[in-house]
Amino acid sequence: MRRRRARLLCSLLLTVAAGAGAATTAEPSAASAAASAAAPTPLDRVVPAPASVRPGGGPYVIGPDTRIRVSGSVGSSRAARQVGDYLAGVLRPSTGYRLPVTARRGGDGIRLRLAPRAPGVRKLGAEGYRLEVNHRAITISARASAGLFHGVQTLRQLLPASIERTTRQPGPWRVSGGTITDEPRYAWRGAMLDVSRHFFTVDQIKRYVDQLALYKINKLHLHLSDDQGWRIAIDSWPRLATYGGSTQVGGGPGGFYTKADYREIVRYAASRELTVVPEIDMPGHTNAALASYAELNCDGIARPLYTGTDVGFSSLCVPQQVTYDFVDDVIRELAALTPGRYLHIGGDEAHSTSHADYVAFMDRVQPIVAKYGKTAVGWHQLTGAHPAKGAIAQYWGLDGSEKQVADAAKAGTRLILSPANRAYLDMKYDANTPLGLDWAGYVEAKQSYDWDPGAYIKDAPASSVLGVEAPLWSETISTSAHIEYLAFPRLPGIAELGWSPRATHDWDTYKVRLAAQGPRWDALGITYYRSPQVPWPAR
Ligand code: ACM
Repeated sequence: MRRRRARLLCSLLLTVAAGAGAATTAEPSAASAAASAAAPTPLDRVVPAPASVRPGGGPYVIGPDTRIRVSGSVGSSRAARQVGDYLAGVLRPSTGYRLPVTARRGGDGIRLRLAPRAPGVRKLGAEGYRLEVNHRAITISARASAGLFHGVQTLRQLLPASIERTTRQPGPWRVSGGTITDEPRYAWRGAMLDVSRHFFTVDQIKRYVDQLALYKINKLHLHLSDDQGWRIAIDSWPRLATYGGSTQVGGGPGGFYTKADYREIVRYAASRELTVVPEIDMPGHTNAALASYAELNCDGIARPLYTGTDVGFSSLCVPQQVTYDFVDDVIRELAALTPGRYLHIGGDEAHSTSHADYVAFMDRVQPIVAKYGKTAVGWHQLTGAHPAKGAIAQYWGLDGSEKQVADAAKAGTRLILSPANRAYLDMKYDANTPLGLDWAGYVEAKQSYDWDPGAYIKDAPASSVLGVEAPLWSETISTSAHIEYLAFPRLPGIAELGWSPRATHDWDTYKVRLAAQGPRWDALGITYYRSPQVPWPAR
């Protein structure tokens, strides 16, 4: 069965509303000045919803003399300074203030403290934080830099949307008083970008990383290989990138990441507290490899490069030893480039591989991943083989009824939930959406948000759920504006499902918090879909 039927209309690539976003340099309007003079944003008007909010006291007003004070125990103060520098980078252009980052102790201002033993922080995990606001100071405390960084994202949303602009704005920069104590429901809060069907540059990925960080996403899954393109340089098999990466859907020039490019993506993602999860999709979705090296084909004949959007027609040659020499080399080189624990081996839509071959292939490939010190992640078809101990299956079905997935979960396989009719960012919103696919149905903002990852897979233990991920396949998209149009407003909903306690889940209150993100996206130049389900403020 071909699930991911893709119909590409090339003209669509050109049609997304380039003008729908942003006037990043416009003078502030009377309306936005009036809005910022109104009451400061309530502490709970944040996406994802914080775990605990206690309003009171304050507000704190960021002014020309505000300092950003960073502190940490020996060895951790550098990490606190990095978060402080990042925050200063957000606040300086729009406030016009100097906002020096200092390690001098004492005093008021914005305080970022790495304080693993502080009361209220000790019990939080590495991503948790506490944000306290009174009229003298904003204090963000956390055990680790990830928590401080997430606390800073919350602080951004408590300031007027104009804080995100890159030119000086009038303020005032007031933050409501009270305390937020916050940590995530799930450890895995991912976003996937398919860089194979269309290639995206390092700068385009960085732009998306910055947007993901706003919503506390912590995994960047890169779909690095598919039928249409191989996007990562592998020294021992150089033609994968130079030939296999030389085109893309529709026949454009494609591209690939050098190892230096990839390291830069990893470094930049880490600076935003995201771990890169690289995917090499196998044994299907491998035409670009089969085109690059004749010996990878069972018949020894190289396949032509492919620029269409069919799926399920390619397979590595399971019985041949050279296949495993190839996989070993690729995984060894990729693991060496990847500080994160995870390596995704695909495994979806292997329609040209027999079931017996699929199982045999996964039995040989998973130990290779382990040999290079990584944890294997696969699409949930992996549960039809023998998932290795510790393996993670990424669910992309529709209604969670697959018994095989629940059985694997009961036996210890952990799950990442990406139901295609909920979490796939490449599904059209409705019949008029100029980009995207519709094989899983239309996915409007409410449909995307309104489900529970903890109870989605029938009969799977709630404890098997590691988290959620929002995949973005790129058959129909090729620019940052395209990415943003499909990701916003759905991505923040998936982020909230991954972060916020179930008790906060409520579409009617969520949609109001979501609506408040609109002016922020305008200020950031993010081209988003103005879903009619969301009460956006007038522009
Ligand atoms: C998939 O959408 N084929 C994982």
